[in-house]
Amino acid sequence: MLNFKQEITDLISEVISIQKDMIYQNISLIKEKDKGDYTFPCFTLSKQLKKSPNQISEELKEKLKLPKFIEKVESVNGYLNFYIDKEYLTKEVFKEYELKRQDYGKSDIGTNKTVLIEYSSPNIAKPFHIGHLRTTVIGHALYNIYKFLGYNTIGINHLGDYGTQFGKLIEAYKMWGKEYNLQENAMDQMVDMYVRINKLCSEDENVLERCRENFRLLEQGDKYCVDLWNKFKDLSMIDFEKIYKLLDIKFDSYKGEASYAKNMEEIINKLEKNGKLIESEGAKIVNLEDAGIKTPCIVQKANGSSIYATRDLAAIMYRAKTYDYDKSIYVTGYEQDLHFKQVFEVAKYLDLDEKYIKGLIHVSYGMYRLKEGKMSTRKGNFIKLEDILNESITKAKEIIEEKNPNLDNSDDVAQKVGIGAVIFSDLYNSRIKDEVFDLDEMLSFQGETCPYIQYMYVRIKSIIEKSNENVLLKDINYSKLNDELSYNIVKLLYNFTDVVIQASNKNEPYIVSRYLIDLAQAYSLFYNQNKVLSDDIEERKARLYLIDMVGSVLKTGCGLLGIKMPDKM
Ligand code: ARG
Repeated sequence: MLNFKQEITDLISEVISIQKDMIYQNISLIKEKDKGDYTFPCFTLSKQLKKSPNQISEELKEKLKLPKFIEKVESVNGYLNFYIDKEYLTKEVFKEYELKRQDYGKSDIGTNKTVLIEYSSPNIAKPFHIGHLRTTVIGHALYNIYKFLGYNTIGINHLGDYGTQFGKLIEAYKMWGKEYNLQENAMDQMVDMYVRINKLCSEDENVLERCRENFRLLEQGDKYCVDLWNKFKDLSMIDFEKIYKLLDIKFDSYKGEASYAKNMEEIINKLEKNGKLIESEGAKIVNLEDAGIKTPCIVQKANGSSIYATRDLAAIMYRAKTYDYDKSIYVTGYEQDLHFKQVFEVAKYLDLDEKYIKGLIHVSYGMYRLKEGKMSTRKGNFIKLEDILNESITKAKEIIEEKNPNLDNSDDVAQKVGIGAVIFSDLYNSRIKDEVFDLDEMLSFQGETCPYIQYMYVRIKSIIEKSNENVLLKDINYSKLNDELSYNIVKLLYNFTDVVIQASNKNEPYIVSRYLIDLAQAYSLFYNQNKVLSDDIEERKARLYLIDMVGSVLKTGCGLLGIKMPDKM
């Protein structure tokens, strides 16, 4: 498909001696109606060319030799506005769709580049709570987006399977293991054991010492401790997998923190050799003040153990070697901003190729607050994500059954709507914003929600089914799509790939979510004004083809976010 922005860049560069990159970056889409499609502002050139912006745009306008896909150019107050020939653009879009269908929008800009997306990464023996929802959902969307753009994409679950808490859990199991039946609700029972042993530790120093000893044994590979630890890990995974199954997520790697603990020596040696390590109260630390980071990074604790940061440093070394990545993205809450700043800074002294340091990206996000009194907690102390997702599915089912009592596969639809609603609302705002979690709002069929998009999709499907027609590209009379509302949709469809690329550049899935709402709204406007199954056969065919494409792009876009489309609802 013709890249109009590129074409306009080439055109301008023929008549002015400015770098193409500069021109390309400056060209943007025009959102207002009737003002053209692309604009090139001449303000930044003013200094360089020693002319007023308006003078520049006027001159450019005169000099440009317009190809047939540009209907006209206007110079307005220093802006050069391009009007693309409507029919030409529509033809381009339709041709591309005929060729690619459900792959419409895919690109190969990522070919031969590897992106690691590390996300979700829950902690063993701790429930998957609502805080882990965001990393899971944002990370998964980024994973899909990069894949769609042709990157070799690797999803990593950096399991939190290491730490002194396992010494405690082992002690709890030694003391009370017989009281617990870990075959059922293992997670609840592990949490219970953990809370109980913590209480005891705070009362009895001897117990705490025994916990520490267990952890030492675990680190040394003591069979009893390692077996127990594996058991806790397996039981936790069963719990996590339930969530991943609900969200339909798979990871390429589950390599957890524990596997990196043994590489601490290597990290210490490199930092030592590079003169970065200082002793401080028995611990080994790296001072980061020169880099503007006040808190030093601890690499080895006074008792000789690794810490969270050490294992992250080891993971960077491992990933550079194993994957030869171009980008390595970490999706976590903003409360870990300092941690990643420290780790990325220390990583500069591990003798890695520059490229691996440049590729490190922390993608952070804001917090989720629950709307009070709206969510039923199971135990009162924490809210399990599994319960929330199931509650959303149940609510979705009630709504759907009320709207359409004759639906056959309402369970499947409720699953898609319930899960989709939660995912979409998570991805609807810029990551860093704190959010209020409100199921009723997410599940509304009106407003900027997932059910709204899914409903538009289902409506489109039903019109196409009713028409019982399979329209081919050669049947299209493009003059039937000249009206503003149709062209509005065509333009949005044209922009799809660009939207996905922007989302990847900023690591912001919301750019895709917003686009999908724009497209669904544009469709809704179009539909209210235009009868799709018109008596005019040519009009009908053209409109059917257009809405089929809208449905397809809505489905593909939702797929990128990790959302499934129902066929009926
Ligand atoms: N397990 C951690 C947590 O639940 C998140 C891990 C993030 N990734 C990392 N490489 N440190 O908070």
